[in-house]
Amino acid sequence: MSKSISFLKRLAKVILGRAAVVEIVPLTFAGWKMATGTQVPWHRGGGNQRARSFATCDARMADLVARREVLLTQFRQESVDSEVAALKWRHYFVHWTASEAACLRYTHENNFVELGVCDGLTAWYAAMARQGAACKGQFYLYDAWAAMRGDLLTESERTSAGSYAYLSLENTKKNLSFTGFDGFVFNKGYIPESFAASENPETVAWLHIDLNSALPTLAALDYFWGRLVSGGIVLFDDFAWPGYEDTREKIEAWSDARGVQILHLPTGQAIITKRADT
Ligand SMILES: C[S@@+](CC[C@H](N)C(=O)[O-])C[C@H]1O[C@@H](n2cnc3c(N)ncnc32)[C@H](O)[C@@H]1O
Repeated sequence: MSKSISFLKRLAKVILGRAAVVEIVPLTFAGWKMATGTQVPWHRGGGNQRARSFATCDARMADLVARREVLLTQFRQESVDSEVAALKWRHYFVHWTASEAACLRYTHENNFVELGVCDGLTAWYAAMARQGAACKGQFYLYDAWAAMRGDLLTESERTSAGSYAYLSLENTKKNLSFTGFDGFVFNKGYIPESFAASENPETVAWLHIDLNSALPTLAALDYFWGRLVSGGIVLFDDFAWPGYEDTREKIEAWSDARGVQILHLPTGQAIITKRADT
């Protein structure tokens, strides 16, 4: 234990009293409302193949952002590098679940779907996770790439109306071109009505929902659940975040009605997997 930590422990005991349990642990990660002292997957570049693949992928994104080759318009440009670094645990779960879905062998095509694409940041990690998996299939991306509409929001979400008006589909396409993957299908329009006019996959191996709104999230779940292959994965981004309680409540009611279990992640994300009997 370093001298400074031991000093802080003694100081805390003096202030808080002998009965207080004081644990001071050096942080290995802090960001996106979570902090931990555990050994992170990317410790020393990663201890196994998938962790190494993530570490390489994450370093590549950090470099592209630092050079402003990838332009993330959803963040303030002064702090964009630290914003991406703070999302590392989130991106690890995106990359891990996408890698797993890319390896599924019960399906002819390992199609990916993302609802809520923005600048393509999470889609970038998922597309990179396909590399080396030798899987077929395409990556279907859905977003309005325009201001959020008030009529698609619940009462408690109404303040988000007008958000994301600045997005550009062309910028997202350019950002994703750095993945080298040529199977993207861009579906521009408001969910759920856009499904009628979009090019949609018949089967899905990985479904990422990041819409910051409960009603389109539920509609997307209903639309794609029947297309999700056995072993397929659904990853929710804003599941347990303050301000998105409506999303969480609707997903929980939906999953209870189907006997489907939710894995809560400390990042606020959540995962559902598809079993053959659901
Ligand atoms: C939090 S952002 C997505 C962030 C992205 N996954 C990333 O890389 O971090 C939410 C996105 O959902 C989109 N969106 C929200 N409601 C929508 C709707 N009803 N139809 C289509 N897109 C919608 C917004 O345009 C925005 O790009």
